[in-house]
Amino acid sequence: MLVDDLIRAVGADHVLTDAGLREGYERDWTGRFGAEAACVVRPADTAEVAEVLAACRAHGTALVPQGGNTGLVGAGVPRGGEVLLSLARLDGLGPVDPATAQVSAGAGVTLAALQEAAGAAGFDAGIDFAARDSASVGGLVACDAGGARALAHGTARARVAGLDAVLADGTVVERMQGLLKDNAGTPLPSLLVGSEGTLGIITAVRWRLVARRAARVAALIPLASLADAEGTLAVLRRELPSLEAADFFTDDGLSLVLEHLDRRPPVIPRVPAYLVVECAAADDPTDELAGALEAAGIEDAVVADDTTSRRHLWQFREAHTEAIAARGIPHKIDIGVPLARLAEFVEKVPAVVGDAQPILFGHLGDGNVHVNVLGPDPADETVDVAVMELAAELGGTISAEHGVGVAKAAQLGLVRSAGEIAAMRAVKRALDPDGLLNPGAVLE
Ligand code: MLT
Ligand code: ZN
Repeated sequence: MLVDDLIRAVGADHVLTDAGLREGYERDWTGRFGAEAACVVRPADTAEVAEVLAACRAHGTALVPQGGNTGLVGAGVPRGGEVLLSLARLDGLGPVDPATAQVSAGAGVTLAALQEAAGAAGFDAGIDFAARDSASVGGLVACDAGGARALAHGTARARVAGLDAVLADGTVVERMQGLLKDNAGTPLPSLLVGSEGTLGIITAVRWRLVARRAARVAALIPLASLADAEGTLAVLRRELPSLEAADFFTDDGLSLVLEHLDRRPPVIPRVPAYLVVECAAADDPTDELAGALEAAGIEDAVVADDTTSRRHLWQFREAHTEAIAARGIPHKIDIGVPLARLAEFVEKVPAVVGDAQPILFGHLGDGNVHVNVLGPDPADETVDVAVMELAAELGGTISAEHGVGVAKAAQLGLVRSAGEIAAMRAVKRALDPDGLLNPGAVLE
């Protein structure tokens, strides 16, 4: 039996068949996606992952890989009957190599742990987002996560100097040497970044750190209209070499956050939209920020120049996710549009979601909007499709940083040509001919 083979691979303690033990792995964070798994398997290292894959192959059972289970598109939870492969135990973190500014992290290392290790060695992980305490390295590379600092450092892809992975046929790709220049043939590690566990299982990542810019200052900028945001950002980009993040939210979302956190508004009077910007440099960027705000004609920004007040200020933006989830099961549609069309997109969303309640926020500098919709039944995809169609119409993408998962696989054709999708299918068939890896994610 499959379970016996899995027990032989990882030990009886790490094959969870009991419904109560499986439960926490079977549903996503929002409660929108998930189903029963055949069992949950918790290997300890790459060799055990390879053995789990061999057992699944032998029994023709598909598997769904899972990191911190913070995904929002259903890619890391079962569709029904698969083996759930938890990578949480692959949590080894090596020493930071200061000469290359790299560190080796197992797939199960949380982003917070990576950030802490980087900070202790005088570096920065170069990526940050609100799910940092649970999201893990393998998952964030598998979906090419972005977050607020992508504006300065790029998405997870830019942080990958190499990785270890297990392919469907059991081949172990070992590329943890951290060679920045290594163009010997088709770069398999690059192919796996953003493939959402459909082409191979990432088990470790050689992570590229960035220089620590310890002096930080943040500002909350009230905007009369999101249409002003592009012009403001243009000035900030020019005047602020230290600019690391530029996120936005609207007053509707702020109302939910204030109620959820029981806090007072950051500015009075309230305005339709808000930017949160953060600058980071070796030397205190406060004067540089003040000069840039003046150049942009902004007089009413709230500036936070110490760690506590910066965290406090970022909470208005980061707490959107939990404040929305506290109201019900949201439809979360992460899209990207060219910055020049972002205000138009935001303005058009209410019309396309009808009677439902839209709450929009996101990463302005990346043209990345998180459309959250409360109201429709979790299984009803009407608003999701309408929002993705709008993003596509405006020259954008249906997935900016959360991935395609199962939530958006049927809409891939909105932003990828038939030829491109055929090429993706050919790659999938070549690497996973039996369709064992994360079936239904990315490609229907
Ligand atoms: C964020 O920017 O907070 C994350 O992408 C999570 C979310 O969209 O809820
Ligand atoms: Zn985000």
